[in-house]
Amino acid sequence: MALFFLVLTFVLHLLFMNAMLGSAIMAFICELRGKKAGPSKDISTKLPYTIAFTVNLGVAPLLFLQVLYGQFIYVSSVLMAGFWLAVIGLIIMLYYSAYIYDFRFEKMPGARTFFIGLTAILGLIVAFLFTNNMTLMLRPETWQEYFGNRSGTLLNLNDPTLWPRYLHFIVASIAVGGLFQAVLAKMRKTLPDRQYKIDHGMRWFTIATVVQILVGFWFLISLPREVMLSFMGGDAPNTVIFILGLAVAAVSLIFGITRRVLPATAATIATVLFMAIVRDLVRTEFLKPVFHPSDLKVAAQYSPMIVFLIVLVLGLGIMAYMLHLAADSGKEAK
Ligand code: HEM
Repeated sequence: MALFFLVLTFVLHLLFMNAMLGSAIMAFICELRGKKAGPSKDISTKLPYTIAFTVNLGVAPLLFLQVLYGQFIYVSSVLMAGFWLAVIGLIIMLYYSAYIYDFRFEKMPGARTFFIGLTAILGLIVAFLFTNNMTLMLRPETWQEYFGNRSGTLLNLNDPTLWPRYLHFIVASIAVGGLFQAVLAKMRKTLPDRQYKIDHGMRWFTIATVVQILVGFWFLISLPREVMLSFMGGDAPNTVIFILGLAVAAVSLIFGITRRVLPATAATIATVLFMAIVRDLVRTEFLKPVFHPSDLKVAAQYSPMIVFLIVLVLGLGIMAYMLHLAADSGKEAK
């Protein structure tokens, strides 16, 4: 049950994180290229919302992660404690720079590139620290490095999966960021340059998804041999889920090439869901020699669970309503 909610809430976190980071990177590149008709203005008004959703939707998977893998995530967080605690400060700075980019968009045209660049770079750093922690927790055999460095600044830099895994998330962010812009433009019938913005977003989505084929392959071959083989026939359920993930990713690419925004969105959400399950299976395979979540003793407590479910459903409903209002926020900004 907890595993189900870990994956579900992580998918929500990831979709918003992708939309936020991808949009910030897109806006930064458009500012650098001096694109007037680009999506920067639209992105500036949406960015603070996506940051808020990313952060809030990160809390639930963090709690489930601690329940299921506490003995791993606590250790890795302590080993890199300096960086891990810095995440809070980095996110606050990211938030500030995104707000300045939004509220001063017209008044400080000269400083726009700086603030959106700062937002994007801080997001890239935070994501890098997350990937470090999520991979360090999977390698208990390296934790003794603590005895050579007790300052809480250990990173997982010599793990061959670190860079391909990180790039996999960043390229996915760029793809989802492009798709997010296309969806927003599609929803707003009166938006100036609407068709241009849809095509522009879908172009980013398609190119990033093509690049992802290479990065994903690199990530796969960087995994330890026995983990990789479990997805290539070694373990039937792992292989089936992985193939389903690849199949829906291929479908999303076809919809990207044919510029079909809503079908591409549905296929992308399905891809993220399958890939999040695959990611969890990778974690299970890594930890197999020492731990499996089924080893945990279960003492069922249904009343907090029911309260959680009610709050989750209510919360998602309120979020959907807020997003509906936010889709019109361009009007407020005028
Ligand atoms: C700018 C803000 C953020 C960015 C860019 C970001 C990015 C990421 C990325 C890239 C991952 C995947 C790492 C990997 O598996 O290699 C991740 C995982 C995760 N993030 Fe975030 N994150 C942000 C904020 C937060 C916050 C504020 C929280 C908690 C309050 C959070 C909770 C989590 C959790 C729990 C996971 C791992 C879930 C799991 O392993 O199943 N994130 N994040």
